Amino acid sequence: MKHLLSTSELSREDAIHLLDLSDQMAEVNTREVKKLPTLRGKTVVNLFYEDSTRTKTSFELAAKRLSADLINFSAKGSSVSKGESLKDTALTLAAGGADAFVIRHSASGAAHTLANSGWINVAVVNAGDGTHEHPTQGLLDAMTMRRRIHGLGATAQRDLSGVSVLIVGDILHSRVARSNIHLLKLLGAKVTLVGPSTLMPHTELFEVDVNLDFDDALAANPDVVMMLRIQTERMSGNFFPSEREYVRNWGLTAERFARLKPKTLIMHPGPMIRGLEICSEAADSPQSTIVEQVANGISVRMAVLYSLISGERSLDV
Ligand code: CP
Repeated sequence: MKHLLSTSELSREDAIHLLDLSDQMAEVNTREVKKLPTLRGKTVVNLFYEDSTRTKTSFELAAKRLSADLINFSAKGSSVSKGESLKDTALTLAAGGADAFVIRHSASGAAHTLANSGWINVAVVNAGDGTHEHPTQGLLDAMTMRRRIHGLGATAQRDLSGVSVLIVGDILHSRVARSNIHLLKLLGAKVTLVGPSTLMPHTELFEVDVNLDFDDALAANPDVVMMLRIQTERMSGNFFPSEREYVRNWGLTAERFARLKPKTLIMHPGPMIRGLEICSEAADSPQSTIVEQVANGISVRMAVLYSLISGERSLDV
């Protein structure tokens, strides 16, 4: 694997290997000294053209915990405002030596462009490109499901076969949904997309079930309910009549939450809008994995950086 641009490019073996490695990194992250020397002398560039809290900070922590040097670049406040192109920005940041670029961009395909343009010869990790993909989010979500549902240890199930997952809300604009759909199917999970028809993409491409009735989908007792943020920044025009109507039909309200079986996992990639997509009763419940997803994100990103740029160095965990 030279780059990580999308989960659709992963084989089942790649995915399970990355999840196993993430579990090893998670063990490191429980130690008093959360540090490995594995990427000493390597440089990681965080290249963020879009805002981020979770992804940016967790790639930063991941690089530091593996002892890599890190450049944190945000387009806001940079020479991008003076008209500098992606190519020249990348060449500038790579000039001091770089081994990996982690890129977030509002344009779908930006990570592919950076990886395949020939401008720089380094590993590229897609940290979210437009409405296309967010592969490390998909991996951290799968890691969270695997650990919560199957536990850890030699006998724990390695894939997600038999696990039923509802992905609910703004599927149309969600790169998180796309990365999850590909990966969850690869791992054997049964995926159902739920949301208003106006926020549903051409789902025949994904070969998954679609249910436009949230209450009907919940009646099937899913193992996981993954709520998505409404991506207003990617919307031009109105995709639903009002927030009130959205909550009534598509929100995980306290009433809907009360109907779920106690073992159903509640997931959200964040940032979440409480009271719109999800109520606080659900978000703050023991069934919620929202904070755990963030913690697992550090381990997944350590595993991805290690896999891409460690070369022949061993992982002495
Ligand atoms: N889930 C996620 O990508 O969050 P951030 O936008 O805060 O990175």
